[in-house]
Amino acid sequence: MNTVSTLLEQKRSGDKITMLTAYDYTTAKIIDQCGVNAILVGDSLGMVILGYENTLPVTMEDMIHHTAAVSKAAENAFVVADMPFMSYQISVQDAVANAGRLIKEGGAQAVKLEGGADVCDRISAIVKASIPVVAHLGLTPQSVNAFGGFKVQGKSLENARKLISDSMKIQEAGACAVVLEGIPAKLAEIITKKLDIPTIGIGAGNGCDGQVLVYQDMLGLTTGHTPKFVKRFADAGTVMRQGITDYINESKSGEFPAEEHTYKIDDEVIAALIREEEK
Ligand code: KIV
Repeated sequence: MNTVSTLLEQKRSGDKITMLTAYDYTTAKIIDQCGVNAILVGDSLGMVILGYENTLPVTMEDMIHHTAAVSKAAENAFVVADMPFMSYQISVQDAVANAGRLIKEGGAQAVKLEGGADVCDRISAIVKASIPVVAHLGLTPQSVNAFGGFKVQGKSLENARKLISDSMKIQEAGACAVVLEGIPAKLAEIITKKLDIPTIGIGAGNGCDGQVLVYQDMLGLTTGHTPKFVKRFADAGTVMRQGITDYINESKSGEFPAEEHTYKIDDEVIAALIREEEK
């Protein structure tokens, strides 16, 4: 079973941490069985599961519902649940109560929230409640409106300095790891070297202590624009489309279901039924 200590030990030994998102029992089971270190029940579920344009409409109820399904499936992976937009921004009290719900009702082992210096009081209060917190810096999707779109962060000297300073502050506040999203690889490398806690990158290069991807992206299930940082490790979309098309065609032609998919009944029972029908 992977824990906070496993991830820390991986940073120390240089064994790269692997994390993937999951939102349901069946997928989480496959991902867990493949040996991933951590599963993130990301609020990206707003887009890839619920069809929203961004993560902002995702609710605590959505997160608990999907986290509970994933937690039941994960036997080895460390399960991290995202705190959705407005579940921690309003007050420290809200943040602790909502983090607690993701642990108690969702069965997660840790929560993740976005932000740097601004959320340090939330991080330390949640950690004081014995809940591990993964921080999230860089292109934090809940700030899409403040950023004016999904834009790479940390390119200017000022912005890069702020990210370095934020990463130190969230570590001091007690975060057990940090996701670095959409920042230049060389900046992520500097942050990774400075921190004692592991960095998990998405669009932040291979100098991080680990990587995370949205599973629909890396398996080729998503359509439309794919961000530059996504590598398609498989084309599961084509496999699914082929299977579904074959199902439609064979159901229409009667080739499916074949005899091996069909339950039998004794001939005498059928003969008696037919006699009764003919009366
Ligand atoms: O919600 C999510 O899936 C995430 C990852 C992109 C890191 O936060």
